[in-house]
Amino acid sequence: MTSTWNRHHVLSLETFTPEEYDIVLQTAASFREVLSRRTKKVPALQGQVVANLFFESSTRTRNSFELAAKRLSADTLNFAPGTSSLTKGETILDTAKTFLAMGTDLMVIRHREAGVPQIIAEAMDRLSTEAGRSVGVLNAGDGRHEHPSQALLDLFTLCSLLDHDVPHIGLLKGKKIAIVGDILHSRVARSNLWSLTASGAQVHLAAPPTLLPSQFGHWPGVQLHWTLAPALEGADFVMTLRLQQERMSAHLIPSLREYHRLYGLTRERLKHCAPDVKALHPGPVNRGVEISSDLMDDPRLSLIDAQVTSGVAVRMALLYLMGSGRPS
Ligand code: CP
Repeated sequence: MTSTWNRHHVLSLETFTPEEYDIVLQTAASFREVLSRRTKKVPALQGQVVANLFFESSTRTRNSFELAAKRLSADTLNFAPGTSSLTKGETILDTAKTFLAMGTDLMVIRHREAGVPQIIAEAMDRLSTEAGRSVGVLNAGDGRHEHPSQALLDLFTLCSLLDHDVPHIGLLKGKKIAIVGDILHSRVARSNLWSLTASGAQVHLAAPPTLLPSQFGHWPGVQLHWTLAPALEGADFVMTLRLQQERMSAHLIPSLREYHRLYGLTRERLKHCAPDVKALHPGPVNRGVEISSDLMDDPRLSLIDAQVTSGVAVRMALLYLMGSGRPS
């Protein structure tokens, strides 16, 4: 199956093909099986170095990439900007070059500005050709641009629910999926729009007008709503997004209480969805704002913990495919 995987970097899902989605989903399913064993480790990336370069804070993404790399037997390097030589004026590019010189094979990069992983990937392509080696770059979230591994783990979570053993993108064709909340600032929404529209799902975006860019209305298979009810009506899955107050330069919502009243997910509101509806949230969550605390903690309705669990298998799949590992 891996014979059709030719991607050296994963920076965006914009150009992903259905075949590539299925390769990731099916490779992740194999690694989920590995993770269910007593010994949860395979030697696929033995001798390779994975560097986590997180210039912006993270709990889920950074730790699950680290665990994924360790489960594949790679050596891992973690980078904390606050205690690095960035504080002495070193540039981001020189930081990446330093990791290249140490023998890094794969770089996982998060940055608050869109495009930084792309810039580093281009520099690594140039420099590693001169050095006779190649370095793969994974975008772990860049500004408002994209968060590909999050959308892939969301896809894996959804497809695994529909077919645990053979998750594939075609399972979502015709499903109604609502994405609710701060679409404006969300790289998760942008990556999910690529994957969910590629699957043939009907995507409904619901948010206050201040948080819902009209350009998304031009996407085939996407409908926009300024109120929650039409997005939730009959929905098979509802993803709600964190209000990214740290990225809001103006007062885009009247108050958190008012936002929850109009757009917050609750058990009561999910009654208008399909009978087996499930709620998702990429995390971190503002409890009681995007989603009520009781709904978030309800394992019958919430897939939030399953999303985190999926993240390890999906990130193992990405590192494995990009690191040219071989199944053990
Ligand atoms: N979903 C997500 O990216 O979470 P973190 O910011 O904790 O990595």
